[in-house]
Amino acid sequence: GITRHYTFNVDYHNVTRLCHTRSILSVNGQFPGPPLVAREGDQVIVKVVNHVTNNVTIHWHGVRQLGSAWADGPAYVTQCPIQTGQTYTYNFTITGQRGTLLWHAHISWLRSTLYGPIIILPKRNESYPYEKPHKEIPIILGEWFNVDPEAVISQALQTGAGPNVSDAYTINGLPGPLYNCSSKDTYKLKVKPGKTYLLRLINAALNDELFFSIANHTLIVVETDAVYLKPFETDTLLIAPGQTLNVLLKTKPSFPNASFFMAASPYFTGSGSFDNSTVAGILEYNHPSHYSASKNLTLFKPTLPLFNATNFVANFTGKFRSLANAKFPANVPQTVDRKFFFTVGLGSNPCPQNTTCQGPNGSKFAASINNVSFALPSIALLQAHFFGKSNGVYTTDFPTQPLVQFNYTGTPPNNTHVSNGTRAVVLRFNTSVELVLQDTSILGAESHPLHLHGFNFFVVGQGFGNYDPNKDPAKFNLVDPVERNTAGVPAGGWLAFRFLSDNPGVWFMHCHLDVHTSWGLRMAWVVLDGPEPNQKLPPPPSDLPKC
Ligand code: C2O
Repeated sequence: GITRHYTFNVDYHNVTRLCHTRSILSVNGQFPGPPLVAREGDQVIVKVVNHVTNNVTIHWHGVRQLGSAWADGPAYVTQCPIQTGQTYTYNFTITGQRGTLLWHAHISWLRSTLYGPIIILPKRNESYPYEKPHKEIPIILGEWFNVDPEAVISQALQTGAGPNVSDAYTINGLPGPLYNCSSKDTYKLKVKPGKTYLLRLINAALNDELFFSIANHTLIVVETDAVYLKPFETDTLLIAPGQTLNVLLKTKPSFPNASFFMAASPYFTGSGSFDNSTVAGILEYNHPSHYSASKNLTLFKPTLPLFNATNFVANFTGKFRSLANAKFPANVPQTVDRKFFFTVGLGSNPCPQNTTCQGPNGSKFAASINNVSFALPSIALLQAHFFGKSNGVYTTDFPTQPLVQFNYTGTPPNNTHVSNGTRAVVLRFNTSVELVLQDTSILGAESHPLHLHGFNFFVVGQGFGNYDPNKDPAKFNLVDPVERNTAGVPAGGWLAFRFLSDNPGVWFMHCHLDVHTSWGLRMAWVVLDGPEPNQKLPPPPSDLPKC
């Protein structure tokens, strides 16, 4: 591979959407941010310069960061934030991955505007295991706030209430014609007939899983989270924040007398606040010039599933299978060294004395894994770990079973209080881990897109209701399960995955709905060094920011 150099200048940039102008944080004055393009095997060096008053970090979501934990990016986990006027250079190599990923800020809610695609092309002389596309197009789904999202989350954390929702969903930063004041801000994809396009879909939205569909066109899903899949066809996709999908779009064989909406709408947004607004873009055939009637073309609309389309979702996610062939094997751990059972869901913290709180029953909203709501430390966990100074920063007693025994029957418990702490699990190098994640659906039914840093995992099983350790493992797929970095724990159900701890460092795991992350649905795995020199965490780069 070669080395690719980038400079990301984080600066203010005025953007107008829905007739509201905001000075947003952007990279190099672009919104959405610039693509990072590399080939598998390339080294990528990104110098990030902070010109704003906020603390900033950037995360290369889904990049394995083999041996480069210092470049991962989550604030207070692998690094202290880059402060005003400071610079940090992220240096990593893309190993064994090709497809689409995304980069985004990883501190507070800054990723609401600081995000962009990562496009990983196959090695030179290697081709896609599917038809060569005529063109490749990034389609990034996002959310637009008319107000500063930092104010939204800090107010919510203070009052204990659920945060205000965004004002629009966006495609490549544009809300589209169904929103007020936005017809001119409509994303248009111009295509030729009889061609195959590769859409690189990314969900960079803060808080919503999104359905996506293009009217009268079938999509062929070929890759997810930078791993190839057995291709399958679908009219509608579900994509969770942090997930990426490469899909082939075959255009009509000849010019149609129509244009077609592409649209995205949210699955559920939690706490019953279902938002039925829809972002729309337009798929337009580039008609030859004599075709002047094109202005009056019919515009077809796709049908999108409803918020309660649980069966559609289970069916859709069940279609994902690794290629699992000789060239692209699925290295699913066949045996397990350590098993974990984690509950994930919402809960509450008591309201401080002499204040009023607007969360459930006058408390404050919280979220937890195994009833532990993870508090971010004031120096980065990875630094504390590397320098052997974990004392007072974190403890290594993250519970391997829920603190409060879980058996959900539909009636929420009277006491939804969580325990707060900065607790991690320590894993030896090359431990094969099986993790079952059980959604509690306490204080609201919603699925949690769980994201693991530093690894891909294999989704070996999923189901509804309570996980049954005696019956469910018999149904696990250990042959061709999907390999990804973010997967939805179904609402009122469970998800089981396996991974091998072959990457030394401290690795964050959290719900990729930012509101849940902020409430504490996050934890860390500490993976110890292995015996070989190339299995050790290298020392930090000299420009690693200090807290
Ligand atoms: Cu895309 Cu920890 O995040």
